[in-house]
Amino acid sequence: MKSEEIRQKFLKYFEANGHTIIPSASLVPQDNSSSLFTIAGMQPLTQYFLGSKHPAGVRLVNSQKCVRTNDIDEVGDKTHLTFFEMFGIWSLGDYFKEQSIKQSFDFITSKDHLGLDPSRLYATVFAGDPELAPRDNESFEIWKSVGMPEGRIYFLGAKDNWWSAGDNGPCGPDTEIFYDITEEGIGDLSHEEFVKATDNQKIVEIWNNVFMEYLKKDGKVVGKLEKQNVDTGAGFERLTTVLQKADSIFDTDLFSGLMAEASKFTSNTRSQRIISDHFRSAVFMISDGIVPSNTDRGYILRRLLRRAVTKTDKKKIEVAEIDSMVEVVVNKYEYAYPNLKTEEENIKKVIKEELEKFELTIEKGFKEFEKMKSKGVDGKEAFVLFSTYGFPLELTLELAKDEGIEVDVNAFYEEEKKHQEASRTASAGMFKGGLQDHSEMSVKYHTATHLLLAALREILGAHVEQRGSNINDERLRLDFSHGEKMTDEEKQRVEDWVNGAVMKDLGVSWSEVSVKEAKENGAVGIFEDKYGDTVKVYSVGEGDNVVSMEICGGPHVERTGDMGKFKILKEEAVSQGVRRIKAVLE
Ligand code: SER
Repeated sequence: MKSEEIRQKFLKYFEANGHTIIPSASLVPQDNSSSLFTIAGMQPLTQYFLGSKHPAGVRLVNSQKCVRTNDIDEVGDKTHLTFFEMFGIWSLGDYFKEQSIKQSFDFITSKDHLGLDPSRLYATVFAGDPELAPRDNESFEIWKSVGMPEGRIYFLGAKDNWWSAGDNGPCGPDTEIFYDITEEGIGDLSHEEFVKATDNQKIVEIWNNVFMEYLKKDGKVVGKLEKQNVDTGAGFERLTTVLQKADSIFDTDLFSGLMAEASKFTSNTRSQRIISDHFRSAVFMISDGIVPSNTDRGYILRRLLRRAVTKTDKKKIEVAEIDSMVEVVVNKYEYAYPNLKTEEENIKKVIKEELEKFELTIEKGFKEFEKMKSKGVDGKEAFVLFSTYGFPLELTLELAKDEGIEVDVNAFYEEEKKHQEASRTASAGMFKGGLQDHSEMSVKYHTATHLLLAALREILGAHVEQRGSNINDERLRLDFSHGEKMTDEEKQRVEDWVNGAVMKDLGVSWSEVSVKEAKENGAVGIFEDKYGDTVKVYSVGEGDNVVSMEICGGPHVERTGDMGKFKILKEEAVSQGVRRIKAVLE
């Protein structure tokens, strides 16, 4: 059975049973959820479990695009993916356990539908937990009534049979359906044997019926929802693997085209799988408007694309190859996701631009790695690759692994920390010693540097990021990312912008906020990717009149008024894509 047929059978069966087919939501969560991506079919429907009325009714069905990156390092084995589709069937306060289990069983086993062998099925049900909810005897009885032998129904705890999307929101016990994928067939198993067989992937989960009738707040069940809902999910790729009796997800028709493309890059199966998975994810992410960047979703996309490249033998994917990979995905999926076709050219363009950028980084990094490797690459050297050449640690680790070299990751982080402390001490030192008026002058230059960066971002564009800065009591120097020489007019506009802010005599203030909050407020600066940490953010201006917001340790002037007149002395190239401005306050 081809994957297209599985999808159609699924949607049609549940439609015939009174469910309305709804489209997949975007991979970018549209609610204010804290997750970067849509990670489950029910996630976009959360509000409807909590009581809102869904415009399409109380019975819904769809296939939802999802991205989960927590298992990214496992991708390359037989089962893990970063992008996947989740088949979902929902009852919003309509039918409950009995109909849910019966129709799932019918669809899975009936010859007209999936036609899987019922004697290879197993079910698990919730064993109960004093903190959550009682044992689910009802589901156990329903399973027996459809003909599941008692010895193939296992009671498991919350770790396996309780589902919630996070610490807050709807949740409940679930019953999961497993299928024996071994050639010979295993037959009846004791509880322990069953658990072992699932660990060994001889028996795999194919279906999950969650009975959402509880509400969680801050990780604790606080009561029941207004209505009893069902959230049924089944991984499309997993079902396809089982139905096609494929050895791995990558041996199904969903991946045959991509794997054929990837086999041109390398003969290593694991690498082919990683390239195929990451490319497919990237195509879907870009089709939902995500672009590569250094933070959040954009960073994940960047990492997926870069990692795909590093898995090729040549460490390069040519433009024509990008085109054919994108075409393979678009052609395979446009029947279900027509926006892939309309976005096709844009997807190709985004990937090409990103990989061109990466090529520059990687060329330098690989060269340096080659030089280093005969002496071994320790954490310190990995840090040099990262700090000097922008070569990601994860790539160094991958290269090192291929060469059988061990890199001490902790040493890398220690080095990074030392580096940060050193630069902090240096900037603190710069503002401490010296005569009073000198110090005051440096502080003025420091604030002027913030204003300059804000002006450059305003006038040249938001691609401008600080690459370095050096301040003394006579001038400031700022290195920033920008591809071209600035025109005289641009320099003039930047000067005018900074002087405008000086003339307005704006107040300067700081606050200590979480990294997340700083990002959301649009602050610029170095984000160390540690959620939960707080950072100091300096703002110039107040309310609607904030002209600069930057993560920084300070110190700064209290008001911009007496800083003097800002003048650019020189604008020049430092390296490819990085410019330097020297400026004074007169
Ligand atoms: N929410 C459940 C899951 O993701 C069922 O759809 O497994």
